[in-house]
Amino acid sequence: MLKCLVVLALFVQAFGLEIPEYAPYQKHLTSGAIFDQFDYDSLKSSPWVPSSATKFDEGRREVVAYNGEWGIETSKKVKGYANDRGLVMKSQAAHYAIARKLDEPFDNTGNDLVFQYEIKLENDLSCGGTYVKLLSLQADYLKFNSDTPYQVMFGPDKCGSQNMVHFIIKRVNPHTGVAEEKHLRTAPMSKGGVLSSLYTLIIKKNQDFEIRINGEVAKAGNLVTSTSLLRPPLNPPREIEDPNDKKPFGWDERLTIPDPNAEKPDNYELNHVWTQIPDVRAEKPEDWDESKPKLVRAEDSQVPDYWDEEEDGEWIAPLVPNPECENISGCGPWEPPLVDNPHYIGPWASPRIDNPDYQGEWKPRTIPNPEYYNDERPSDLEPIGAIAFELWSMDSNVMFDNVYLGHLIKEAEQIGNETWRPKYELEHVYREANRPKLRNEPVPPPPDFQDLLFADPEESTLSQFLNFIRMASKRQYLEFSDFIFEFVMDPVPTVLESPVRFVIYCSISVVVLSVIFGTWAVLMFVLFNKSEEPSLQEEKPETEVQYVPKIEELSDHEIETVTASESTSSAVHQENNTTKRK
Ligand SMILES: *[C@@H]1O[C@H](CO)[C@@H](O)[C@H](O)[C@H]1NC(C)=O
Ligand SMILES: *[C@@H]1O[C@H](CO)[C@@H](O)[C@H](O)[C@H]1NC(C)=O
Repeated sequence: MLKCLVVLALFVQAFGLEIPEYAPYQKHLTSGAIFDQFDYDSLKSSPWVPSSATKFDEGRREVVAYNGEWGIETSKKVKGYANDRGLVMKSQAAHYAIARKLDEPFDNTGNDLVFQYEIKLENDLSCGGTYVKLLSLQADYLKFNSDTPYQVMFGPDKCGSQNMVHFIIKRVNPHTGVAEEKHLRTAPMSKGGVLSSLYTLIIKKNQDFEIRINGEVAKAGNLVTSTSLLRPPLNPPREIEDPNDKKPFGWDERLTIPDPNAEKPDNYELNHVWTQIPDVRAEKPEDWDESKPKLVRAEDSQVPDYWDEEEDGEWIAPLVPNPECENISGCGPWEPPLVDNPHYIGPWASPRIDNPDYQGEWKPRTIPNPEYYNDERPSDLEPIGAIAFELWSMDSNVMFDNVYLGHLIKEAEQIGNETWRPKYELEHVYREANRPKLRNEPVPPPPDFQDLLFADPEESTLSQFLNFIRMASKRQYLEFSDFIFEFVMDPVPTVLESPVRFVIYCSISVVVLSVIFGTWAVLMFVLFNKSEEPSLQEEKPETEVQYVPKIEELSDHEIETVTASESTSSAVHQENNTTKRK
């Protein structure tokens, strides 16, 4: 499927993108179904009216107006069909409220409810809601705000990492008259991205419900029987704890008590309470002198300047270690050092026993819940008077389209299949074709051997062949140099690993060397035979005859001159030189 799209995208890229013209869905709808494709010239000519109400903003703690600008516009970015319009939230960081009053109240009693709509985030969405409210019947939708009663709230809500598709059903407790919001406990995640997404809510008359995103079920359950589906639960508990019941005085909830008969063992304190005890094995050192004090008054201490005898009394020198004990183990009464107590337990506590008077954990008695009711048919919503958006969005250009409210799942499916699906695929193609080039767009790797083997047949056979040779030899060369490298590093394992290769390289080397030497030998033979043969008979004897005796003459002469005179005269040298020159 995706492959098809990519191929289609390449095709479109090659031949210029054709954006097909939008055509409205024209199949007959079942009576009572509402389907809005936003084929209006302007917001003014549409049944959608922005609210003039204000609301109290919890976050800003002030009353704000719904000043976000609405429009009926076509998609500007990732285009599907040309001139396909939708309802657009145009402002950034604004409150929005708009409603379409239904010509007749939508009654779902004994019926299935299907609500479906498309969301397109032209600038994607960092923070904002895109959900819908099906408002309860009332007179004035021109002033609807966050407090206006609704029956169902459905759709995505996203802010940063928080991302969920809300489903809230509001049910009135008949005893209290208070409407309570029942939230989906674990909501599915919404679909982000700049392509159109299709959201469908189905509430069946057998109380099954479904949330579909792009036609696929994202969450399903039964409103009545799936007990942990909603928070708070659809129905209040049958019984509640009596708020007037009080714990009787003296109610004994203690599971265990200290054993009243237990007694502290003798000597417990001495043996088990102290973390450290004197070391019984320690002995007083022999040179310890108990007759001398450990500390003495400092002899050389002087009365400080600030000391006032009248006010401060007589000056008393401070205590210092006794200098007489400097060179022995110590003075004063000797005490053994402390060591860790191996029998340490801690303060004594009597052991605990089961409490014979235990009365059990006290709980208030339960009484029938006066507010209990059994909502067996939450699908029987109160009549719906309007479809409305009441939102805050950080990002601009959020587009809604193809809003459907009816009773037939098949009808909504068919609408989705014929409006959203082809549009979504066109948008996909458009996005692929207009994807901005990355700055570091990856380049294809250079062709390798395999590519050339299956090369383009349109290329000329000669260049193909040359390329083939080039690649083949390059490959062989690389393999050869790898082998040599490994061989040099570690010859034995390299040879053992690929003996055939080694033999082949050796043979090739032998052959190559033989060829080189053979050629050289032949060349030498041919060259010398040709140039030297004619002159050999005439010149060779002459040079040999002339040259050899000369050297003998020279050496003999030199030996003579060295032995003859110790002080080598310049005459002899000159003579030497002259004989050399000859
Ligand atoms: C302790 O020994 C030191 C060094 O041997 C010596 O100078 C000092 O007088 C001795 N002190 C006493 C009280 O014997
Ligand atoms: C819509 O399309 C889906 C997926 O192709 C298909 O399963 C379903 O039957 C279709 N529904 C209708 C009503 O055409």
